[in-house]
Amino acid sequence: MSSLTNIYVFTWAFTFTLCNNIQSTVEDEFIANYSSSSLTYVPKIIPAHTQVLDLSHNRISGLSISEFIYFSDLQVLNISHNIITVLDFSVFIFNENLEYLDLSYNNISKVCCLTLAYLRHLDLSFNKFTALPMCQEFGNMFHLEYLGLSATMIRRSDFRYIKHLQLHTVFLTLRNFSLYEPQSLTVLTTRNLHIVFAANQNFIFPLLYDGMSTSENLKIVNLIYTLSYKDFPAPPLMLLKKIKTTALTLEAVDLQWAIILQIFMLIWYSPMEHLTVRNLTFRGPLEEPNEYAFLPLLSSVEQLISLDGSMKTLTLEHVRNKVYYFNQEILYRQFSEMNIANLTISDAYMPHMLCPNRTSSFQYLNFSRNALTDELFQNCGTLMDLKLLILQKNKFESLYKVSFMTSHMKSLKYLDMSSNLLRHDGADVQCQWAESLTELDLSSNQLADAVFECLPVNVKKLGLQNNQISNVPRGMVQLESLEELNLASNRLADLPGCSGFPSLQFLNIEMNSILTPSAEFFRSCPGVRELQAGHNPFKCSCELQAFIRLERRAGGKLFGWPAAYVCEYPEGLRGTELKDFHLSLLACNTTLLLVTALLLTLVLVAAVAFLCIYLDVPWYVRMTWQWTQTKRRAWHSPPGGQGAVLQFHAFISYSERDSLWVKNELIPNLEKGEGCVRLCQHERNFIPGKSIVENIINCIEKSYKSIFVLSPNFVQSEWCHYELYFAHHKLFSENSNSLILVLLEPIPPYLIPARYHKLKALMAKRTYLEWPKERSKRALFWANLRAAISINLPISSEANDPFQPKPFYDSMILPL
Ligand SMILES: *[C@@H]1O[C@H](CO)[C@@H](O)[C@H](O)[C@H]1NC(C)=O
Ligand SMILES: *[C@@H]1O[C@H](CO)[C@@H](O)[C@H](O)[C@H]1NC(C)=O
Ligand SMILES: *[C@@H]1O[C@H](CO)[C@@H](O)[C@H](O)[C@H]1NC(C)=O
Ligand SMILES: *[C@@H]1O[C@H](CO)[C@@H](O)[C@H](O)[C@H]1NC(C)=O
Ligand SMILES: *[C@@H]1O[C@H](CO)[C@@H](O)[C@H](O)[C@H]1NC(C)=O
Ligand SMILES: *[C@@H]1O[C@H](CO)[C@@H](O)[C@H](O)[C@H]1NC(C)=O
Ligand SMILES: *[C@@H]1O[C@H](CO)[C@@H](O)[C@H](O)[C@H]1NC(C)=O
Ligand SMILES: *[C@@H]1O[C@H](CO)[C@@H](O)[C@H](O)[C@H]1NC(C)=O
Repeated sequence: MSSLTNIYVFTWAFTFTLCNNIQSTVEDEFIANYSSSSLTYVPKIIPAHTQVLDLSHNRISGLSISEFIYFSDLQVLNISHNIITVLDFSVFIFNENLEYLDLSYNNISKVCCLTLAYLRHLDLSFNKFTALPMCQEFGNMFHLEYLGLSATMIRRSDFRYIKHLQLHTVFLTLRNFSLYEPQSLTVLTTRNLHIVFAANQNFIFPLLYDGMSTSENLKIVNLIYTLSYKDFPAPPLMLLKKIKTTALTLEAVDLQWAIILQIFMLIWYSPMEHLTVRNLTFRGPLEEPNEYAFLPLLSSVEQLISLDGSMKTLTLEHVRNKVYYFNQEILYRQFSEMNIANLTISDAYMPHMLCPNRTSSFQYLNFSRNALTDELFQNCGTLMDLKLLILQKNKFESLYKVSFMTSHMKSLKYLDMSSNLLRHDGADVQCQWAESLTELDLSSNQLADAVFECLPVNVKKLGLQNNQISNVPRGMVQLESLEELNLASNRLADLPGCSGFPSLQFLNIEMNSILTPSAEFFRSCPGVRELQAGHNPFKCSCELQAFIRLERRAGGKLFGWPAAYVCEYPEGLRGTELKDFHLSLLACNTTLLLVTALLLTLVLVAAVAFLCIYLDVPWYVRMTWQWTQTKRRAWHSPPGGQGAVLQFHAFISYSERDSLWVKNELIPNLEKGEGCVRLCQHERNFIPGKSIVENIINCIEKSYKSIFVLSPNFVQSEWCHYELYFAHHKLFSENSNSLILVLLEPIPPYLIPARYHKLKALMAKRTYLEWPKERSKRALFWANLRAAISINLPISSEANDPFQPKPFYDSMILPL
C-alpha cells in the first residue's frame, strides 16, 4: 500500500517537473526579442507562432502587411524607439489577437485608422503628431484600457469619438504644445490621467484644472511657469465643485511661491487626499497672494493652517528654494500644524521643524535627507499619534537627545535614525525612550559600545550596522523582546552571546573582524533561526572547524553559506571556502590525541615488556654495563697492568657438570706436549675478592680465545651464558674471531631457552667442533682444536711489550 503511494507521488512529481520544463521552454518559444538589433525592417525569420514580438530600439522606418500577415497568434508587439513616420493600422489586419501595441518614441505624424477590435493597450506617445491622432475607429475598440497619445494642440472635439470608452489610463505627451481648448479633457472617462508637458515651455494651467475634474489619479510632469504671477490664470471658483482627483502627483515643478500657494489652497479645499510633489523649485518674490487670491476669504497663510480638508498624505521630495530673505518660520508653522496623517518632506535642506501647537494628527513623518538637528521635537508633547518617524540622513548627534525626543511620543513604533552623526558617550545621563518603540534603525552612525546603555527596552528589531561597535557588553544590557539584531559592518571580534537577548531570532554580524566565532554561541542562543556571519576574516583553525561542525549539527542556520564564508588566515588558505577546509580529526581533537598517545605508549610498553620477558633484554643491558665498567676500570688501572692482559691462549667456559671431562680430557690434552697451551680456568685462575662477572671478563680479556664446551648442561647454566655473551661481545668489539665452540653432547634445539638467541644462532651456523664418541677420531679433534687455538704466546717476561695480535683467520669455520 505504502509503496504504491510512493510510486504515485513519484510519478506525480515527475510529471509536474516535466510540465514545468515544457511550459518554460514553450514560453521562450513564443517570444521573439529583436530589441536593439539595428534592424531597418521586420526580419523574415521570425517564427509564425510568435506571440510576443519585441522590435524596440531599431531603425525601422515603415511597416507593411506582408511583414505581419503570418503572425496570427501575435498578442504583444513593441515597436517603440524606431523611426516610423506613417502608421497604417491595416498592417495589423490579420493579427486578430493583437492586444498590446507600443509605437511610442517614433516619428509618426500621420495615422490611417482601422478598428483593431482586441486592442487593450495602444501607445502612440512621444510621436510627432500635431493634432491628436483620433479616429472614429478608436470608438469601436471596446477593450481599450490604455491609450497613449501625443500632440501639439488639443481641441474640444478631439476626444468625442472615445468619450464612451471606460479607459484605465490616458497618457498624453505634449511637446512643443501650442493650444489647449478648455474643457477638452473633461469628456474623457479614465481612472488615471498622465500628462507629460514640454520641459521648456510655460505650463498651460487649464490642463491641470481640467485634469482634476477628469480622473481619480492625475499625474503631471513639467509644471513650469516663468511668467509673472499677475498673468497666472487662477483656478475658477466653479472648479472646486467639479474636482474628481483624489491623488495628485506633480513632478518637476518650478513655480513662484505665490502660485504654489494658490495651487495648494485649491488642493486643500478640494476632496483630494494625496498630494505628491517631486522636484519642486519655488521662486520669489515671496508675497502672499492677497489681491489675486483664489478665495478672497482665504487671504493669508495662517488661515490655510486651520483648514480641515480631506488631505491625508502630503509628500514633498527634492525641494529647492530659490527665494532669498525668506522667513522659514511661516513655512514650518504651516507644515507642523497641518491636519494630515502622513507628511513627507524629503531632500529639502530643511534645518528645523516646529512642534505642533495642538495635538497633532500626524501618524507618519518622513523628514529624510534634510539638515535637522538634535533640537527637533525636544519636549514636544503634541505628537501623540505618531507611529512612524523617519529622520534618515540628517544631522543628529546625540543619541540621548533622540531618546528624549521620543519620550513624549506615546504611539511611536518605528524610528529610523540611520545615516546621522549619532554618538553616545555613556555619560551618567539615563536615556528615555518611548516605551512603545519596537523598531529602531541606528545604522550608519558613529556609535560605539556605549550604545548598549541607551536602547529602548521593548525593541524587537534593532539596526546597528555600520557603526563602531567593538564589543557587546555582557550582563549590562537586557532586551527581552529583541528578535532581530543587525550588527553588520562593525568592529566586533566575536559573536555576542544571547544572555541579554533571550528572544533573539535573527542576527546579522557580517563584515566584522571575527577570526574565530566561539562555538559557545549555539549554547547561549538556542532561539536563533538565522545567523548571517559571512564576509568576516575567518582564521581557518580547529576552533573554526568545531564551530562549523556545531553549526551544521544545529541545522544549518548560516545565511549565505557557503559563498560568503571564506578563509582569510592563514595566508596559505586565503580564499578557500570554509566548506572546503578540513583539518584531520586527530589534529583538532585533544581527547583523541591523548587517547592516541596513550595507545602508542601502551604498545611501546608492551613491546618493551615483550623484549624484557621474552628476549631478556635487561639481562643483556646489565651485562653490557658490567662489561663497560670492567673495561673502564681496566683503562684506569696502571699501564703496567696491560702487559698482563694476554696471559692465556684460551679461556674455557663449561658447565660445572661437564667439569669432569674438562679436567680429565681437555686440560690434560691441551696443556701437555710441545705447543703447550695455557688455559684460563675459573677454579685455577680466578682472582679471589673480585666478583664472578669481573673474573669472567678478566679471564676472557686475558685470553686470545674462548673455548665453550657446549652440552645440554651448558645451555642450562646461567653463568655459561654470561661467558658466551662476553666472549661474543669481545669478538665484536675487537673485530677478531676468538670464539671456539666444542660440542660435547648434541643439544636438541628445544632445550635452548628462547632468550639465548645468540647461542641459537651460533648453533644454527653449525660452526663448532664436535667431540667424537669414537676414540679413533679423537686425535683429529685435538689437532683441530690446537690448530684453532694455535697462537704464539709471548713469554711472560716480555709481557710488558705492546702486543699486536696477528691477523687471525677464521678458526670457527671448520669443515664438519
Ligand atoms: C528584450 O530584450 C531587452 C534587453 O535586450 C529587454 O529589455 C526586453 O524586456 C526584452 N523584451 C521582452 C519582451 O522580453
Ligand atoms: C516592449 O513591450 C513589452 C511588452 O510590455 C515589454 O515586455 C518589453 O520590455 C518592451 N521592450 C522594451 C525594450 O522596453
Ligand atoms: C522625422 O520626420 C521628419 C519629417 O516629418 C523628418 O524631417 C525627420 O528627419 C525624421 N526624423 C528621423 C529621426 O527620421
Ligand atoms: C514647434 O512647433 C512650431 C510650430 O507650431 C515649429 O515651428 C517648431 O519648429 C516646433 N519646434 C520643435 C522643436 O518641434
Ligand atoms: C528630479 O531630480 C532628480 C535629481 O536632481 C533627477 O535625477 C530627476 O530626473 C528629476 N526628475 C524629474 C521628473 O525631473
Ligand atoms: C501613511 O504612510 C504609511 C507608511 O507609508 C502607510 O502605511 C499609510 O497607509 C499611509 N496613510 C495614509 C492615510 O496614506
Ligand atoms: C503656536 O505657538 C506659537 C509659539 O510657539 C504661538 O506664537 C502661536 O500663536 C501658536 N499658534 C496657535 C494657533 O496656537
Ligand atoms: C521617506 O521618503 C523618501 C522620499 O519620498 C522615500 O524615498 C523613502 O522610502 C521614505 N522612507 C520610508 C521609510 O517610507
